[in-house]
Amino acid sequence: MSKISTKSKLRDIIKNPIGRDIANRLLSTMGKDLSLVDNPFVGGVRLGALPRLTGGMVDSSVVDTIVELLNSVDADVQPRFEGEYEEKWWKDLVVYQIYPRSFMDTNGDGIGDLRGVISKLDYLAELGINAIWLTPVCDSPNDDNGYDIRDYRAIMAEFGTMEDYEELVKEAHARGMKIIMDMVLNHCSDEHEWFRRALAGEQKYKDYFFFRDATPDTPPNNWLSFFSGSAWNYYPELGQWALHLFSKKQMDLNWNNPDVRQEAIDILNFWLDKGVDGFRLDVINYIGKDERLPDGSEAVGAMLGYRGIEHYFFAPALHERLREMQEKALGPHDAFTVGETPGTGINMNRLITDSRRGELDTVFCFDHLYSPGRDKYDICDYDLEWVKRSLTEHQTIYGKDCWNSIFFENHDNQRVVSKIVRDKLEHRDAAAKMIAVISMTLAGTPFIYQGQELCMVGTKFTPEEVRDVEAINLLAEKKDGATEEQIMERINFGGRDHARVPMQWDDSENVGFTTGTPWIKPGEHSSVYNAATQMTDPDSVFSAYKELIALRKRVHALRYGEFIPAKKCPKGLFCYTRKGKDGCYYIEINMTGSKVRRAKAPGIKELVYCSYGTPEKKLRPYEANIYLC
Ligand code: GLC
Ligand code: CA
Repeated sequence: MSKISTKSKLRDIIKNPIGRDIANRLLSTMGKDLSLVDNPFVGGVRLGALPRLTGGMVDSSVVDTIVELLNSVDADVQPRFEGEYEEKWWKDLVVYQIYPRSFMDTNGDGIGDLRGVISKLDYLAELGINAIWLTPVCDSPNDDNGYDIRDYRAIMAEFGTMEDYEELVKEAHARGMKIIMDMVLNHCSDEHEWFRRALAGEQKYKDYFFFRDATPDTPPNNWLSFFSGSAWNYYPELGQWALHLFSKKQMDLNWNNPDVRQEAIDILNFWLDKGVDGFRLDVINYIGKDERLPDGSEAVGAMLGYRGIEHYFFAPALHERLREMQEKALGPHDAFTVGETPGTGINMNRLITDSRRGELDTVFCFDHLYSPGRDKYDICDYDLEWVKRSLTEHQTIYGKDCWNSIFFENHDNQRVVSKIVRDKLEHRDAAAKMIAVISMTLAGTPFIYQGQELCMVGTKFTPEEVRDVEAINLLAEKKDGATEEQIMERINFGGRDHARVPMQWDDSENVGFTTGTPWIKPGEHSSVYNAATQMTDPDSVFSAYKELIALRKRVHALRYGEFIPAKKCPKGLFCYTRKGKDGCYYIEINMTGSKVRRAKAPGIKELVYCSYGTPEKKLRPYEANIYLC
């Protein structure tokens, strides 16, 4: 890869795969995309000229950041492998994500538990999924609901015991379901023994974290936390600061220290030996940060919302650290891994998931989850045209050596149906079924989040009802002089609590989740959108998921077939073919809330699935159909 300098032209910057990712991300914050750089005039502009040409919006700190980053990152993206996908057990999974705290409570304390999960395994078997990902179940003081682990080898008391966990693994396996564990290795709780011993002054454990000297009033660098304010907390007992990219109780672990890497490997092996089949690795791209921790660029921070991220989103050391975990823990157990990698781009994802490199099997890429340049709290319509574009890119640019994950919901985001229809609830079922069709017909491992199969939607919270630390900190921070009302509007639009309300089992007062007082208020009480009703209605969203999951499991082409985007696919429609050894399937989707004319389809032999029952001349709002062709 040629060396980048301020004299490099923009077109050379985007020849570097990571440069392309970064350019894409920065451009999208300005409502632009890479086609801008295809313009010969723009492509010929030198990097160093940007501060002048953009009137300072892209300042010299951005330029320096890009130069330094691109000269240090691993950008060795190999040409796409065009053969067949290699078959793997984890490519045949349909994963169901459980947020145990909100799934099922069996002892009346208002908090979901592992026995609750066990009690609902037959429900999950009925749906047809064959893997469960549980968000963290390890011992934790729950500042961030388990994403702050206090003891990596113990089960959170509120959730049950190690015996319960072992029983869950056994019972899931007996039903042909794999268990995917959520592992949080970028940081641990400030109540973890390592951090407590560090605070007590033990040097060995101080080296597990990022402790730095600085005066009590000025943190060691200008990085921001994702959960508001500085990324540093001051410890008067040591006269030092320690780094936390998330809450003050989630301390970043120093992965430059080989002892920390060994601890992580031992933890993974501990759980693999207990029979877990794979891991979802929390914010795993953040483990590559180096010890220098330089200031972040103010301008990059202003553009992307958080200062400092350029120093860890694409870190070069990440790759070797992933390979080490693969060699010493994951590989020998044939474990599946999905990395949560916020902020990376498509080329970085190709590096991480290229099977020839031995890093991770797949990653969660968030590009399609928000409209370009927006984040979850920005009140705006969900741009489905962008979703189509982004998914198509990932389906086509990834070679057969890389593997996608397909998801629209998780515990950190608003319900997808609410994002699509907002208050036009008459289209609720149709939108949910559309997402089901997309999820079960694209190449990649699909993930469904609890309640997605029941067409659950977002709810409305008062400030007192908010439970999520991210939202609580936003309310406390009142950034840029925003009022409580304005912040609540954003939280009610996109906050994480929407996905965390109790799973709707029936239409009783606490939606069948608990006999006690639920830890978070239930969402809607509905006679329709609950498991009991949905399971008995052949036209329900649950029934749609059930049928589509079964279809995906039956049809090889839907898992391993070639993805071919339709050549003439007008705006508003998303049409593609999956061509494989047991057939060719044409998928036709109306991504709009209106009736539209269908696109010219390939020769169709048979209707396989229609989200409205039977097709009509025109496509109805969010209609999604599958044909054999
Ligand atoms: C991931 C998790 C999120 C958590 C954060 C910090 O993004 O999905 O819930 O707050 O990491 O661990
Ligand atoms: Ca309980």
